[in-house]
Amino acid sequence: MEVLDLLEIESEVSLPKRYSELTVVEMKNRVKEIKAKFGERLFIPGHHYQKDEVIQFADARGDSLKLARICSLMPEAEYIVFCGVHFMAETADMLTGSDQKVILPDLRAGCSMADMADIDQTESGWSKMQEIWGDSILPLTYVNSTAAIKGFVGKHGGATVTSSNAKKMLEWAFTQKERILFLPDQHLGRNTAYDLSIPLKQMAVYDPIQRTFECEGKLEDVKVILWKGHCSVHEKFNVKHIHNLRNQKPDMKVIVHPECTFDVVQASDLNGSTGFIINTIENAPSGSKWAIGTEMNLVNRLAQEHPDKEIISLNPFMCPCLTMNRIDLPHLLWSLEKLEQGEVVNHITVPKEITEYAVLALNRMLERS
Ligand code: 13P
Ligand code: SF4
Repeated sequence: MEVLDLLEIESEVSLPKRYSELTVVEMKNRVKEIKAKFGERLFIPGHHYQKDEVIQFADARGDSLKLARICSLMPEAEYIVFCGVHFMAETADMLTGSDQKVILPDLRAGCSMADMADIDQTESGWSKMQEIWGDSILPLTYVNSTAAIKGFVGKHGGATVTSSNAKKMLEWAFTQKERILFLPDQHLGRNTAYDLSIPLKQMAVYDPIQRTFECEGKLEDVKVILWKGHCSVHEKFNVKHIHNLRNQKPDMKVIVHPECTFDVVQASDLNGSTGFIINTIENAPSGSKWAIGTEMNLVNRLAQEHPDKEIISLNPFMCPCLTMNRIDLPHLLWSLEKLEQGEVVNHITVPKEITEYAVLALNRMLERS
């Protein structure tokens, strides 16, 4: 994309000057006022990675699975102002009624991992896989993917997964077909398959740019085809961090998100979804010590909420997820004030023909988790 195009997008999305002039207290008071005015007609789900200035206004906090489920159970909410990233808002749109409107306060809140699998690449990779393995593959996609990918997966009999049910879903998938294509996060796919005792040499990585497969073993023995995608935030943790920590603080436990690389997950003590990480820390004894390998807003919040425990980031130089952080108090307030004026901004809608199949994939997951 040309620099001028980028500048144009930047200026289209920049907020009116007023939002940089309001104080934080003024903004918070306005959000509270609008929430009170709308009551049950307005629902604000917030992902655990959201900033404190935003998450404090969430009607429900959760990991991807909890938020997907909760949105499907909110028929009275006319407006769902989603504090998370684009794929989560798309999922909310697909799981809610046609009379409900989902709003993403800042359209720049995407997910770089979800962007690593587009539908054309997926269709073309799929034909190549059919040539090699025939009709023996079931596609699964991490919810961190576009609605179009979820639609593709649904159409081919597959399902979505989240980090909290990936193992269960992979087990189910193997009752359906001999091989699994796992999109778009190679790390979650590899970590989960390994957990199910599938050896690394029975996994192949598909590179959608080169249209090639990388595999340590023989292609005919492959059980899991991993899409070559990753989360740029979780890839910032490495085994060196764990080794240094084990030397400096041998009594500290390491807990990471399964979007981290295989080596990191293997070297850690525990791994699981954001919900799992939170539960583990909440239930840990006072005085316990934890190094956490996930997004910084969540790690900082856990450290603040549990002053009786020592909580640090596994990577001392970690940054937050930049796209999650696009949702801030000014954007939240702006989207709410627009609603108050009767205008729905940043309305997230998924075309009907995609929703039809994507919902099949989502429901196959929701029924099993
Ligand atoms: P969870 O499903 O654990 O909430 O993770 C979502 C996500 O985007 C992690 O990067
Ligand atoms: Fe996407 Fe990674 Fe950010 Fe999660 S942390 S939203 S996977 S870029």
